Amino acid sequence: MVTDFFSRHTNAYLGVVIYLVCPMGATAGVILILLGLLWERRRRKRRPELGQTRLPSLDLNRPSHRAFLLGAFLVAMTGVMLLSLTGYRAYHFTESVEFCGLVCHQVMKPEFTAYQHSPHARVACASCHVGPGASWFVRSKITGAYQVYAVSLKKYPRPIPTPIEDLRPAQETCEQCHWPEKFFGAKQKVFQHYLADETNSPWQIQMLIKVGGGDPERGTPAGIHWHMNINKEIYYAARDEGREEIPWIKVVDRGGHATEYVSTENPLTAGELASREVRRMDCMDCHNRPSHHFHPPDRAVERAFETERLDPTLPYLKREAIRILAEPYLSEDEAVSKIQKGLAAYYERSFPDLAREKALEIRRSAEELGKIYARNFFPEMKADWRAYPDHIGHLNSEGCFRCHDGLHRSGEGHTITKDCNACHTILAQGPPQEVAAASLVSQPFRHPVDLGMDVTEFKCSQCHQGTSGL
Ligand code: HEC
Ligand code: HEC
Ligand code: HEC
Ligand code: HEC
Ligand code: HEC
Ligand code: HEC
Repeated sequence: MVTDFFSRHTNAYLGVVIYLVCPMGATAGVILILLGLLWERRRRKRRPELGQTRLPSLDLNRPSHRAFLLGAFLVAMTGVMLLSLTGYRAYHFTESVEFCGLVCHQVMKPEFTAYQHSPHARVACASCHVGPGASWFVRSKITGAYQVYAVSLKKYPRPIPTPIEDLRPAQETCEQCHWPEKFFGAKQKVFQHYLADETNSPWQIQMLIKVGGGDPERGTPAGIHWHMNINKEIYYAARDEGREEIPWIKVVDRGGHATEYVSTENPLTAGELASREVRRMDCMDCHNRPSHHFHPPDRAVERAFETERLDPTLPYLKREAIRILAEPYLSEDEAVSKIQKGLAAYYERSFPDLAREKALEIRRSAEELGKIYARNFFPEMKADWRAYPDHIGHLNSEGCFRCHDGLHRSGEGHTITKDCNACHTILAQGPPQEVAAASLVSQPFRHPVDLGMDVTEFKCSQCHQGTSGL
């Protein structure tokens, strides 16, 4: 305990020994003593020839007895103090990020790795997964005990299923730090893309995302956080466990007036609807990856171009990088070595001169791809962007288009909007030199690659699956 007290970081395994195993051993010792007392009493009852148990007789006038009593008192007090100190520390330790992320290293590796790269890297796991209050603390320890058993016997599912069944409602976790009244206005966001062509041509989209709508008293009651509006409640039923298909939605306003929206494409039958869980929409229905975002290959590669960790002068690098990353591998080690060899082999085969000239750049890019893989793909746990789609937006999974596909209609004939300007306005788009000259007027979406059709008639994710360009 002294070592731990003076070291700056708790070592997860040392913590388990000091705060869980040792106190359990000590408590077990005390229980053994009490059991021993009981046992001896019963033995003596059964065999009277041994005589009655005699309690020690104390004479406080004798100095040796007084010293003994004082000593016993001090030892007992020290024991009690140490145990309550370990209890206190055990409480903090089992709520700590080290404990959640590192003790079951193999199982939590995907979530822990993604967490460390997220905007919530300084928010403890327990702030979202347990939250304040005693009852959820106890609940989390009970499920935790089962999880220890599942991990020791390797009985856990891979990937760990999402959504989590009894996740605490967002009002009691997320809203401790972000609350609906805070959402108003819009924010500008720049999406930097690179096409999968020979020159990895850059393409930029600048958008104003309408993140307002949380509180009618502090801004127009329109915008994305309208769903979290204090005046409205939205309920829905999903067809599948992953909540990827949402055929039924109900909006209840403050007056109690309810509007039901039903998918005209593939509605639930009355029987199916009765058997489904009806869930009240909260933050997690959009922000399902606030802390564990597994990037798809195309977005991860684009981000590496943007931050100059991959060299965009290498021909077809985006296309090849996506191809190599998206292949199935059995383990991280295998993947990293095959990715590095695969990229080098591609350039030697297709561009032998360049492969010699730019050997260093190619090697650096290959190393970077290995890092991208280790950060976003976890073959041992079968965790990647396919297992955990992100519901913000609509590019690589249906996300908002699960409801906003223009096919959910109410009895009165009202449709949940798929208007491209309802959630954002595009300020500028195109190759960077064109974007610089663009004005601040909203423009219709222009698909970066002309496919000879109006892509807005479809769901983006019908073509985009995280590997576009292949
Ligand atoms: C900002 C809040 C937040 C923090 C901090 C956080 N999580 Fe999560 N976590 C979530 C949400 C939200 C989900 C998805 C829940 C859902 O879809 O039902 C999730 C899901 C998970 C899952 C289930 C598998 C999956 O990816 O969906 C695991 C395991 C997990 N988290 C572990 C951790 C660990 C370990 C930490 C700390 C290192 C942590 N979480 C920190 C919010 C958080
Ligand atoms: C203990 C406080 C805390 C809790 C709990 C918390 N967050 Fe956050 N959240 C933060 C902080 C701090 C930031 C970073 C703010 C920044 O960088 O400007 C943040 C950022 C965000 C962002 C913006 C991310 C970005 O890319 O800029 C979103 C979205 C978000 N949180 C959603 C959630 C959701 C959903 C939950 C519940 C599952 C949650 N947060 C729980 C503190 C918290
Ligand atoms: C209907 C889906 C949806 C719901 C429900 C939702 N959000 Fe958001 N939220 C978004 C979108 C979309 C953005 C913009 C994300 C982006 O483009 O970066 C956003 C942005 C944010 C941001 C960053 C705001 C900023 O100005 O940068 C925070 C923080 C956040 N949400 C927290 C929450 C919390 C907490 C809840 C629950 C009370 C919640 N959201 C409910 C869709 C939603
Ligand atoms: C569970 C279904 C569902 C999901 C998922 C969903 N929405 Fe909605 N959204 C609705 C409903 C229902 C309405 C209200 C429709 C109406 O009354 O016109 C709505 C309305 C809106 C509005 C219009 C608010 C107004 O009146 O101006 C915006 C903006 C919006 N949603 C953005 C989003 C974004 C962004 C996402 C994805 C991050 C998203 N929604 C995901 C169900 C959903
Ligand atoms: C229900 C709300 C909603 C509607 C309707 C909607 N979008 Fe979006 N869209 C979003 C959100 C939210 C994001 C931001 C995602 C993020 O922050 O990653 C987004 C992102 C985008 C992006 C940038 C994606 C990227 O990674 O470059 C484009 C382009 C886009 N939308 C085009 C469209 C077009 C075209 C339509 C009409 C068919 C449309 N959107 C309709 C909510 C919506
Ligand atoms: C019919 C199929 C199809 C549909 C539908 C579609 N796309 Fe694409 N998209 C493509 C193809 C093919 C490319 C070219 C890939 C390349 O060369 O990089 C592409 C490229 C892009 C790019 C350039 C970055 C990248 O990932 O390659 C963006 C951004 C994009 N699409 C946005 C959208 C949005 C937003 C929607 C929905 C409104 C959409 N697309 C719908 C097929 C489609």
